[in-house]
Amino acid sequence: MLPDYHPIGVFDSGYGGLTVLKEFRNHLPEYDFLYLGDNARTPYGTRSFDVVYEYTLEAVKELFDRGCHLVILACNTASAKALRTIQQRDLPTLAPDKRVLGVIRPSVEYASQISETGHVGVLATSGTVASDSYPIELEKWSDGKVRQTTQQACPMWVPIVENNEIGTAGADYFIEKDLQQLFQKDNNIDTVILGCTHYPLLIDSIRKYLPKSGVEVVEQGKIVAASLKDYLNRHPEIEAVCSKQSQVAYLTTEQVELFEARAEQFMGQPVKARKIHL
Ligand code: DGL
Repeated sequence: MLPDYHPIGVFDSGYGGLTVLKEFRNHLPEYDFLYLGDNARTPYGTRSFDVVYEYTLEAVKELFDRGCHLVILACNTASAKALRTIQQRDLPTLAPDKRVLGVIRPSVEYASQISETGHVGVLATSGTVASDSYPIELEKWSDGKVRQTTQQACPMWVPIVENNEIGTAGADYFIEKDLQQLFQKDNNIDTVILGCTHYPLLIDSIRKYLPKSGVEVVEQGKIVAASLKDYLNRHPEIEAVCSKQSQVAYLTTEQVELFEARAEQFMGQPVKARKIHL
């Protein structure tokens, strides 16, 4: 590791965090980023709290060891199940000068601003839904504006992305079914949060199968990127240590060739990855 290499770490269970990384690169082009996809152990969405916490902490430590001072959990499941414990219990002893941030709060703040009916829908993994992080955070940060939050777990959506089934008839069957179930529970929803960073990769099918018009679909990438920019402005001590050579590097816990081919599709540019063990 080069002594002055301090990229911003971006972590996800697999490919989904690339939807966030892409927007980080657009909004903050001067910074270095180090992406870590735990593709060998994806999906996290159906795993227990303890396991998601353990895997996420391993990933955060790895990114710290590789020079990161700031790590973004570009994964809702990890943000829902591990972020608070890492921030409150681990960081003070592990690395008091380093920071770990998640993706849920910026998304909640944005959705609260744009919803007119005060009825918000959340599409997420089973783990994120079970954690109730979205209803809790929407209640806390929406200033009473959001009156009803309705969640729908979409357990097939991450495997669809990870297994390159995007746009197939089989994939669309599950997308249509889950969207219908969400709106059957509350037809006044006017804002739907894609509460999993994999889901923007399914956006064409999601828009096609929305059962009513006039619904705003909230993708997290741009929102989290704007929030990171704001965070760096407000925390000059962290901003100052982030290196700025416009480099991006990729780590995966699975086969490199497969990761590079898929990541290239999502990023729209050549990707060179390195395989690591967590
Ligand atoms: N991208 C992760 C999220 O935002 C997917 C979780 C999973 O691996 O199931 O929740």
